[in-house]
Amino acid sequence: MNMNLVRAFIAIEIPSEILRQLQGHLDILARTSGQSVRWVKPDNFHLTLKFFGETEQSRLEKLDGCLKKALEAQEIFDLTIGGFGAFPNFNRPRVFWCGLSLSTELKSLQEIVERTAASVGFPAEDRPFSPHLTIGRSSDRSDPPALQRVIEQIRRLPAGPLGSFKVERLVIFRSQLAPGGSIYTHLFKIPFGGNPQQGIIHTPK
Ligand code: 2AM
Repeated sequence: MNMNLVRAFIAIEIPSEILRQLQGHLDILARTSGQSVRWVKPDNFHLTLKFFGETEQSRLEKLDGCLKKALEAQEIFDLTIGGFGAFPNFNRPRVFWCGLSLSTELKSLQEIVERTAASVGFPAEDRPFSPHLTIGRSSDRSDPPALQRVIEQIRRLPAGPLGSFKVERLVIFRSQLAPGGSIYTHLFKIPFGGNPQQGIIHTPK
């Protein structure tokens, strides 16, 4: 493997208070599924805005610089989490997810990321942005009745909002594939620059 390549993606982190609010629902689902779903550890939940795949470190550094500039005026905004579902659908569930509301602010942020990534040579994403946290994955070996029990349980979970949190930065993560689940580590933190709560900027007279 080329040592300068890292598997990377950019995401919004999920605060631990929100993870705690989710935990009860996740426990119920895990009890229903038996071994048929590989549930993601909540510490590994994040909202991916773009997946880069194997990428040269130098291109990620360039992206970090460009994004810091592009987000100089980005204001902190609220994101609401809630609703559960499966991709591609409930008849053939491969990925179980918890949803996030696609607000104007989130859509605009995702577009900035997409545009900035394109400016440093990353190919455009052809699938529409569908904000979600992957909470579990099934496989070809999963027991269909167990998956259907998970779906039935999902239908009983609250469909509405579970909580909101403030988005204050983006993180470019490294993803290392491992048998017990991928290991994610921070590569670059990109704080938002335009936080009005940080006070008035005084310009010298
Ligand atoms: P997911 O949440 O839908 O699984 C790290 O793998 C992150 O990048 C995950 O959040 C994953 O999305 C996302 N991702 C998007 N496209 C991917 C791809 N082609 N391969 C692996 N992960 C991808």
